[in-house]
Amino acid sequence: MSPIRVAVLGAGTVGGQVVRLLREQSAELTARIGAPLELVGVAVRRPQRHTDIPADLLTTDAAALVAREDVDIVVEVIGGITPTKDLLLTALRRGAGVVTANKALLAEEGPELYEAADASGADLYFEAAVAGAIPLIRPLRESLAGDRISRIMGIVNGTTNYILSAMTATGDSYEYALKEATRLGYAEADPTADVDGFDAAAKAAILASLGFHTRVGAADVHREGISGVSAADIAAATEIGCVVKLLAICERVGGDATGAGASVSARVHPVMLPKSHPLAGVDGAYNAVYVEAESAGRLMFYGPGAGGAPTASAVLGDLVAVARNRVAGGHGPRESAYADLPIQPMGEV
Ligand code: HSE
Repeated sequence: MSPIRVAVLGAGTVGGQVVRLLREQSAELTARIGAPLELVGVAVRRPQRHTDIPADLLTTDAAALVAREDVDIVVEVIGGITPTKDLLLTALRRGAGVVTANKALLAEEGPELYEAADASGADLYFEAAVAGAIPLIRPLRESLAGDRISRIMGIVNGTTNYILSAMTATGDSYEYALKEATRLGYAEADPTADVDGFDAAAKAAILASLGFHTRVGAADVHREGISGVSAADIAAATEIGCVVKLLAICERVGGDATGAGASVSARVHPVMLPKSHPLAGVDGAYNAVYVEAESAGRLMFYGPGAGGAPTASAVLGDLVAVARNRVAGGHGPRESAYADLPIQPMGEV
């Protein structure tokens, strides 16, 4: 079987693990796919920093790498919208499969990427974009595609969950807990995207779009972060048997038995949850998502939501899936056919 050629964009925390695992586990992956995966290039900004990757694989020219006709699958773990969107569109338009962990790009530009993929018959997979290692995108996109999902509710940001868990355990202020989270490496140097809920809102947009087969962008998601949560709020919650969690809540609202008349709401904000709720015991940097579907009932997905190796696991799972599709001469689920459900205006939830 001729090899499936793979290019990786980025060799940071996640990309470095992807490249390492691809090289170390090459024989096992080949057996699972039925064809060898051949790593043909890794695009990075500073090649001299990546002494663990063979120099002949490294390039600073990501645009040339994605345009190479012999590259079958592009793995994107550089993040950002520009120039990443154009790089992925180039790959998709010429029929290369794309595996990406880029939640911001999917939340803002998902429709254009989905349409480019469907137009050329290319695969676009993104399990790593929401909740790291937790299998969640594929269940929503495939396993539950025959059901009607009514609610997706989850802890999808590990940084804020770590901060709120620490405040609950110690009684510390938000400011002190954030400082500790930064010192211990849980929070980024600039924690804005996490603590103000932007990261969770992007994930909510992706989950709502997939779960309700519609188009929800990050700007459609009502968003409130955790910087206003005080030690007194945490103490009051504890007093009444609750915990405070930052939740992404996506709901299908109304609609008759045929589905006509339904709309969608998506929001991110701190919630007081009774300690008996399945999400209440999810502490530290872990993520968990609770899905309610008409026929399946209540499902819970739980696990590491971030980190190099867990996120690389999701990326490699997608890579194997896209490679298998190519070996079989088929492709994965399409996204360009969708219901255009009205989105409830922000503030009316
Ligand atoms: N900053 C994110 C988090 C990383 O804290 O969950 C994973 O998307």
